[in-house]
Amino acid sequence: MKMELAGKVALVTGGAKPRAMGQLVALGLAREGADVVVADLYAAGFPALEEAFGQIGRRVLCLTVDVLDPGAVEAMVAQAVATMGRLDVVVNAAGGSWAISPEDIVEGRPPSAPVPAFGCSDTDWRRILGVNLDAPFYVCRAAIPHLMARRWGRIVNFSSLAGRRGGAPESAISSGPYAVAKAGLIGLTKQLALELAPYGITVNAVAPGIIESWRGERALASISPEARQRMTGGIPMGRVGAPEEVAEWVVALCGDELGYVTGAVIDINGGMYCP
Ligand SMILES: NC(=O)c1ccc[n+]([C@@H]2O[C@H](COP(=O)([O-])OP(=O)(O)OC[C@H]3O[C@@H](n4cnc5c(N)ncnc54)[C@H](O)[C@@H]3O)[C@@H](O)[C@H]2O)c1
Repeated sequence: MKMELAGKVALVTGGAKPRAMGQLVALGLAREGADVVVADLYAAGFPALEEAFGQIGRRVLCLTVDVLDPGAVEAMVAQAVATMGRLDVVVNAAGGSWAISPEDIVEGRPPSAPVPAFGCSDTDWRRILGVNLDAPFYVCRAAIPHLMARRWGRIVNFSSLAGRRGGAPESAISSGPYAVAKAGLIGLTKQLALELAPYGITVNAVAPGIIESWRGERALASISPEARQRMTGGIPMGRVGAPEEVAEWVVALCGDELGYVTGAVIDINGGMYCP
């Protein structure tokens, strides 16, 4: 093992649910030697995470935060730096097109019907854009001064296949405003990449297809076997992706070896979209 991130501190949003991609990223970063701050609304997931970090032998600081709240995000970054002493890596994984309200997260409600962009209510628009686009902006805004101060940093944002090509209206598990937000997040990624390149900070995005994460498992379980078969049939590789297949890329983007890659969008979708 290279322990590329030994001595560094990472902040990962959306890492509390078992098999959430953010959780696998947090554990992967720890295996590379980083101490990690995990911010999530699902505090019930923290004890298991703390135990897993104990087994790896790295520190974890779990914070209950709604990333939609800019004041809470500022306080989260301040607490992360005060407790861990520094901040080097930021991964914005919190997001989704459904079950992103505090009640949904805590109660684990099943997927709601997909919302189209045309005719979307103000409430759905604000929450979906808020969690998937505003929140990564708030986190980056609060964290970047700490990365700039060390003239080294890594930021990885979770976009989506939906942000690359739009969400199919007949999709059972995506939504229109989600596709808009994830496309906007690619724009934020590229803009920050240009602004931060002189400081040795890379900013990249991953754009997963259909992934069997905590969320993915529930979404797939909520549709009929026929709909699932149709969905799998639309994937050139004939299967959905495992969350590890995304997390490995994110961890790699946080190391030194990919330090000349910035402003990139890594498509991880089994061939569903080949730009
Ligand atoms: N699963 C997929 O198929 C898929 C595909 C493309 C993109 N993505 C994106 O990848 C990222 C991770 O997705 P996942 O499938 O692992 O999701 P997940 O639901 O399994 O995990 C998301 C985590 O974010 C947390 N979270 C959600 N809203 C929050 C908020 N407002 N404040 C704090 N924490 C919050 C949840 O509690 C959860 O722990 C998301 O941004 C998602 O949009 C997922």
